[in-house]
Amino acid sequence: MAALQQQISAVLAGIRHPRTGQDLMAGEHVRDIATSVEGRVRLTLLLAAGDDATLVRTIRQAIEALPGVTDVLVDVRDPAQAEGTPARRGAAPPPPPPSRGGGTGGSGRALPVMDSAPAKAPPKVPEPVAYPQLGQVIAISSGKGGVGKSTVAVNLAIALARAGHRVGIMDADIYGPNLPLMMGVDAAPAVRDEKIIPLEAHGVKVISIGFLIEKEQPAIWRGPIVMKIITQFLRDVNWGQLDYFLVDMPPGTGDAQLSLVQATPVHGAVIVTTPQQVAVGDALRGVKMFERTGVPVLGVVENMAYFENPETGKPIAVFGTGGGARLAEQCGLPLLGQVPLDPRVMEGGDTGRPIMAELPESRAAKELARVAELVTRRLAERMVG
Ligand SMILES: Nc1ncnc2c1ncn2[C@@H]1O[C@H](COP(=O)(O)OP(=O)(O)OP(=O)(O)O)[C@@H](O)[C@H]1O
Ligand SMILES: [Mg+2]
Repeated sequence: MAALQQQISAVLAGIRHPRTGQDLMAGEHVRDIATSVEGRVRLTLLLAAGDDATLVRTIRQAIEALPGVTDVLVDVRDPAQAEGTPARRGAAPPPPPPSRGGGTGGSGRALPVMDSAPAKAPPKVPEPVAYPQLGQVIAISSGKGGVGKSTVAVNLAIALARAGHRVGIMDADIYGPNLPLMMGVDAAPAVRDEKIIPLEAHGVKVISIGFLIEKEQPAIWRGPIVMKIITQFLRDVNWGQLDYFLVDMPPGTGDAQLSLVQATPVHGAVIVTTPQQVAVGDALRGVKMFERTGVPVLGVVENMAYFENPETGKPIAVFGTGGGARLAEQCGLPLLGQVPLDPRVMEGGDTGRPIMAELPESRAAKELARVAELVTRRLAERMVG
């Protein structure tokens, strides 16, 4: 334990705060480092308005890489409001009154999502609440960033909708929401009878934190706020009756994952990986995290599995081979599909016209449609079994 604490301190001392230029330990940007015998790590990061919120992700990833660490929870606090903060300045302003209803002003994007009251006590662990109207809740996750979770999530959602199911998708990546761009929708959702009306694109209902915040607003999120937003997206959005509810997770095994499983029963997780060994190692951690929290992992999707030589039609292994199969085998999980690297997949994501909607006959789309079909089958088997 003490050794782990020291390792964490050493890791934090190796990360420079982008604003102050000091390392996180010397600059006293981090406090309350707590570790458990199971390898759970919790710490408080003091992040001022305007600070780069990606620091949260950097810290989490660096600590997750330490041997023996199972999950990392970063509780973000505003230094101006944090009590007993070593870095606190004498003339810190008093915390603002709790403001429901946002009140960020301007374009009417503020919705009753953010509560700016300072978080004093750590949040109580609530009992997961079932929301039958959501249907089957499926988390799309990975250990590593940038492997194509959002791409897979969006295309799976559209494939399920094309197969006649009622589908919703939610962005749980509050630090870098991808769904507005990828689904090609971005507007302030209406609120009716105190419920947020989700937007709709390609036959799928969509809600994203990206719809609710000003683009230029600095992202200062505290750990408890993640839970609040996730709960609010599940409970306070008028989803209607759905068959499948997909959740696009942020990378890693941090607060959003924990918040989701604490907020509602998750019926299954799909783990996305790329073929490289390092991505597979990270994905393994993702699998373990879900298994530990009792969420059935439905299988593994290997994304960017190969590139098809346009001349010969032969596959070229760009990122190595076999990572998805290796991971699936190691964990006793099915390999749900191998999605090729295809520039049209990326273009689809960048233009809000996912390949499943634009080119359903492409190999990548067909493979993703097969994944969707296998996911529904696995869920049905579990319900029967
Ligand atoms: N099969 C593919 N072929 C080509 N490009 C792809 C493919 N899958 C994903 N991409 C591209 O790779 C990039 C990363 O994908 P994506 O944003 O879906 O990853 P992510 O795991 O959700 O990332 P993050 O961890 O940041 O949320 C995007 O530009 C996306 O368009
Ligand atoms: Mg993403």
